[in-house]
Amino acid sequence: MLTQEKVESSNTLLIVMTLFAIIWGGLVEIVPLFFQKSTTTPVNEQVKPYGALQLAGRDIYIREGCYNCHSQMIRPFRAETERYGHYSVAGEYVYDHPFQWGSKRTGPDLARVGGRYSDQWHKIHLLNPRDVVPESNMPAYYWLDRPLNDPKIGAKMAALNKVFGDNLQGYTEQEIADAPKALEGKTELDAVVAYLQGLGTALKQTR
Ligand code: HEC
Repeated sequence: MLTQEKVESSNTLLIVMTLFAIIWGGLVEIVPLFFQKSTTTPVNEQVKPYGALQLAGRDIYIREGCYNCHSQMIRPFRAETERYGHYSVAGEYVYDHPFQWGSKRTGPDLARVGGRYSDQWHKIHLLNPRDVVPESNMPAYYWLDRPLNDPKIGAKMAALNKVFGDNLQGYTEQEIADAPKALEGKTELDAVVAYLQGLGTALKQTR
């Protein structure tokens, strides 16, 4: 008989059975999410792939490590929804590769920052946060005011199309062909602001 005493006094048995419990539990919890419609389809038709300029801005957001201080996921608690708006849902993130959810919040969550401030506010804030928020300890990203140079933008969009999978519409050939033109004459700052202004706007803000 396999008694508890036998299992707990045998290293091998304990390791094997613990691994089995974790793997089985993980499979049961995680695998169904891959196939659940609410996690793999856009929550509404406003959720679209990032435009070329936004996508370039998103890459700069990642390059600059903004995620080290900013999460992009509003949890379903009152304290969060009153401050940031509607809690985040999986169907808002279907085009986010890699996702920027995070959990570190030195600064506020940015999941619904789109439309909260003007473009001009964001530009001043990014170049020197203290000009608009005197007590801010966010670093100044003064170098962002330089020409945007992202020659691989079309290739990135084509690569993302492969990542999106069959149930998402992805970028059209025309959008990919027009991408370099959309970046012409723009600065890195323009791109980051375009990205920020689109965040979380697909679901109506409730505050
Ligand atoms: C060292 C931590 C830190 C980093 C890195 C950082 N931020 Fe911040 N951010 C903050 C803090 C703190 C605030 C709140 C004070 C303020 O508004 O400046 C803030 C505020 C903001 C806000 C205003 C949010 C709101 O709802 O009021 C935006 C937008 C923002 N950051 C964008 C960015 C972007 C884009 C980057 C990367 C280029 C970035 N942050 C990097 C700490 C950081």
